[in-house]
Amino acid sequence: MTHAHIPRRWYENAVFYQILVGVFNDTEGRGIGTLKGIAEKLDYLQWLGIDCLWLSPFYASPLRDDGYDIADYRAVHPDYGTMEDFEDLIAAVHARGMKLITDLALNHTSMDHHWFQESRKDPHGRYGDYYVWGDDPHRYPEIRIIFTDAETSNWSFDEVRGQYYFHRFYKEQPDLNYDNPDVHEEVLSLIDFWMDKGLDGFRLDAIPYLYERDGLGGESLPETLEFIEKLRAHMDKHYPDAFMVAEANQPPAETREYFGDGDRVHMVFNFPLMPRLYQAIATSQASPIVEIMPELLHLPAGAQWGNFLRNHDELTLEMVTEIERDLLYSAFLPDDSMRAHLGIARRLAPLMDNDRAKIELMFALMFGLPGAPFLYYGEEFGMHDDSSLQDRDAVRTPMQWEPGPGAGFTTSDTPKRPIVGGEGISVAEQRHDPHSLLRFTRSLIAARKAHPELGIGNYEAIEVAEPALLAITRTLKVEDRVIASDPLSSAPLVCLYNFAPHPLAIPPQALANLSGIGRVEIGSVEAGTEIRSGDVIPAFGFFWLTAQ
Ligand code: GLC
Repeated sequence: MTHAHIPRRWYENAVFYQILVGVFNDTEGRGIGTLKGIAEKLDYLQWLGIDCLWLSPFYASPLRDDGYDIADYRAVHPDYGTMEDFEDLIAAVHARGMKLITDLALNHTSMDHHWFQESRKDPHGRYGDYYVWGDDPHRYPEIRIIFTDAETSNWSFDEVRGQYYFHRFYKEQPDLNYDNPDVHEEVLSLIDFWMDKGLDGFRLDAIPYLYERDGLGGESLPETLEFIEKLRAHMDKHYPDAFMVAEANQPPAETREYFGDGDRVHMVFNFPLMPRLYQAIATSQASPIVEIMPELLHLPAGAQWGNFLRNHDELTLEMVTEIERDLLYSAFLPDDSMRAHLGIARRLAPLMDNDRAKIELMFALMFGLPGAPFLYYGEEFGMHDDSSLQDRDAVRTPMQWEPGPGAGFTTSDTPKRPIVGGEGISVAEQRHDPHSLLRFTRSLIAARKAHPELGIGNYEAIEVAEPALLAITRTLKVEDRVIASDPLSSAPLVCLYNFAPHPLAIPPQALANLSGIGRVEIGSVEAGTEIRSGDVIPAFGFFWLTAQ
């Protein structure tokens, strides 16, 4: 059999790290993180093993939606620094061989954007048709409301224009009208503006919602997918090394649509997998993962999943069944103040009851299943959240670099958001402690990098009689093996994950691909330990095993 060799692209096996600029590192003593502050922390990120940074929006904005309401796509929010700071940051990131992507909300702008201001004033002027205006606030009844805590309709009345405008999110975020070709041109031109500064790509925020159609609703419409193809063709032509990751929180088959035949986005966040990892923990069953995996395999060449456990939003439960949602609420929502919209605004460590084994298990899943992993700042050392804060601010508190007031984040007494703190929960306290979660995360990243098959290789579930045990084999694909005859590059890696709250004896089938004996690469016991069938895997433990 011959295999066409398509060279791998950098993002397919990169480790990503999401940063909210305003809460990462304050260099000005104003209680707000800055772009310069990120540049100062590149040593740390490189030490951790991060390949690519993702910056959430840092553009001019009234911050009604933490910057996802953009008032000027070509300006840096003055709180975070200057355009020069941004250019310096790209240069510093690249000097270390790392990459940088930014977030782009293209579905909507802020009401403060001058396009909207002109549009509401002059329906017949240049910007009159830039937004989705109408006289009927009941049009598109199929379109769900996403911010259920704040909005009761996707339409709001504008007194100035005397018409309703459509918004998928807050009323302060009017949707752009993609039926207007001028809007396409604006988008391509602002993409060029940022790409010409040397960016490595974008996260496409809320991308399923670009178009609306009567009777069909407003998600993943053919016109939206066609626009994504147009965007991709533009990127391939002008910036062939760059990549785009889509936020498309849709049912599994629909989520895959965003890859197209490899002619839409390069990466899609793995929304189909994410809730199932939590479900497996909550039910002590491997089946939620085993069952979804076949739907996620065999992507077009160059396409990859972006795996994540948490991000700056709520742990979204929009795409699970009602029964599953109830189950996840009862496992992970002890207090209704932690609810946000249809999800849960908590960070990973508290969701896992700060149980070290469970946290490590979740990381080992995210790093061990096909896809590229995304860490959310602070997750790597078990940061807590603050459920007294409104909406998703609960999970957007300042990065904890050090113990004590200011947390090494700021010298100001009044940080933008309160610091959560907690003994032992900071970079400084954990960095030199070989037993810390931070050091575990760093070792896991290193182990993952030593095994590219974890990101891009074949996935195979091993049938075992124990329902709480997930046993999988990962092997490099033939086309990725350096030398076809090199026994090492075709050797399987076996990953075992125990979802039971008690130890389990390892059944013989689990180790059959390793001829009965595995050697722990990383896991719940010391690296190098030999594991045979009948040996025990601890409660919520995991092993990545190589052949002897
Ligand atoms: C995306 C972002 C979210 C934002 C929304 C509207 O879902 O992740 O934070 O509020 O889009 O832009």
